[in-house]
Amino acid sequence: MKITFYGHAAFLIEGTKRVLIDPFISQNPICNTKVSEIPKVDYILVTHDHADHLGDAFEIAKRDDALIITIHEISLLAAEKGIKAEGMNIGGKIIPENGIEIFMTNSVHSSSNGGECGFILTMDGKNIFHTGDTGLTYDLKVVKELFDTIDVAMFPVGDRYTMGIPSVKIAADWIRPKILIPMHYNTWEIINVSKEKLEELKNDLKNKTEVKILNPGESFEI
Ligand code: NI
Ligand code: MN
Repeated sequence: MKITFYGHAAFLIEGTKRVLIDPFISQNPICNTKVSEIPKVDYILVTHDHADHLGDAFEIAKRDDALIITIHEISLLAAEKGIKAEGMNIGGKIIPENGIEIFMTNSVHSSSNGGECGFILTMDGKNIFHTGDTGLTYDLKVVKELFDTIDVAMFPVGDRYTMGIPSVKIAADWIRPKILIPMHYNTWEIINVSKEKLEELKNDLKNKTEVKILNPGESFEI
């Protein structure tokens, strides 16, 4: 399985199928990839309707005839535009095809349509947890009750609109992901996180979780 970070909260997961999450690409100041350079995807997960998450989701879904999986109300917006979408809600799971499961987690944030969420994608025997935008909440702790192993977790670290580093340390302790990828930082100055702070996070978690800092455009295999 290959995971690519496009900057901010945008990721591409490539396994049996290609799954794009929160594709904020064309307006993303730190994304060095063009929409046209993103390979054809099968599924697009959208955590909430803020522009830095919904991003180019509709355009890419149209281009690829991909299925958008998101909170009920955003799925209605997509359907109005003639885009394939499946709505769901927090605490539920969807199995869009054999071998792929998507569980919707709660996040604590804001949105205009429906609400905000995170996703746990299970594909090729791996559990990938993208929290979406969230502050620290005990709802993150509950994830561990349902998913004993989280292979990769994407956590926001930029503070102000989401968790900052102190909260991330606590959430990481609860969930103990094998790999933690910091996201939602350095996109704009107001959510800047220094290299030193990221190194500190890495050191603090080093015996439990590997903190993997990815540059926009960077990939790794698990
Ligand atoms: Ni947001
Ligand atoms: Mn955001």
